[in-house]
Amino acid sequence: MYHDFNYEATLASSLRAQWQLDDVLREDQALDFSRNFMPESLARTAALGSLNPFEQRILNQISAHQYLCIFGVVEEFILPFLLDHARPALRDDDYRVRALLNFASEEAKHIHLFKRFHEAFVRGFPVECQMIGPSEAIGAEVLRHDPLAVALVILMIEWMTQQHYLGSIRDDGDLDPLFKSLMKHHWMEEAQHAKLDTLIVDALGEGRSEAEIDRAIDEFFEIGGFLDEGLKQQAAFNLDALEKVIGRKLDDRDEILAQQHQAARWTYIGSGMVHDRFKATLATLSARAAERIAEAAPVFA
Ligand SMILES: [Fe+2]
Ligand SMILES: [Fe+2]
Repeated sequence: MYHDFNYEATLASSLRAQWQLDDVLREDQALDFSRNFMPESLARTAALGSLNPFEQRILNQISAHQYLCIFGVVEEFILPFLLDHARPALRDDDYRVRALLNFASEEAKHIHLFKRFHEAFVRGFPVECQMIGPSEAIGAEVLRHDPLAVALVILMIEWMTQQHYLGSIRDDGDLDPLFKSLMKHHWMEEAQHAKLDTLIVDALGEGRSEAEIDRAIDEFFEIGGFLDEGLKQQAAFNLDALEKVIGRKLDDRDEILAQQHQAARWTYIGSGMVHDRFKATLATLSARAAERIAEAAPVFA
């Protein structure tokens, strides 16, 4: 076995690590708009030489707005997926049922927390930032795929958040402490989710032929392509918001758009694709699945 995860131990760790919304952000708290919100390893705004430091910081904050919205969207499809996965076997293993429902309840809490951060963002930011959606339509498109493909996407996302927190402490320069705390608290609970996702993928992959797994990987790429299109559209919305704040059109908008789309690809797809634990699950599922995803990973770097 390539891991020692089980429902009983994961539930126990989850219950120990749990926090409340107010531990991360109270409703009356304000974000510090004199600082960056996102680690540079994800936002890549300091690399944009045609923007001055003020403009780079504004774009960094817009990229944090994107972070809140994208996580809102993905957690909204994780929640029904978990309930559907738990429902057919509510009488079997008590630890499994409790671990999955606790996982679902934590994702509902995360959705709530991301909304609270979003409200704080809107209160302090000078213009409205547009967001792709609606999230119900994005969720429905993802969830119409093979559950194994969806489970792999979710597994990738959960390992990804581990990478994000590490990035935020590694190159924190001058990050808003509340955003840092958001990454940290999300990381704490997502670490347990990623273990449960691993068990879900193991269960959904069991007994599948090589051809069936291959088709699930096709669908994994379909979902990835769909999300990537959304990220490209979102990058354009982000630049619209930046232009509104700074009061001028960007001369090199196309280059910035491509660079920011690439930053989002790494943040929301690539950083999960190359995670060792994700790769270990793929390798156990099928050597060919692991190979196909490793071949695609550089596109999202
Ligand atoms: Fe979450
Ligand atoms: Fe999660």
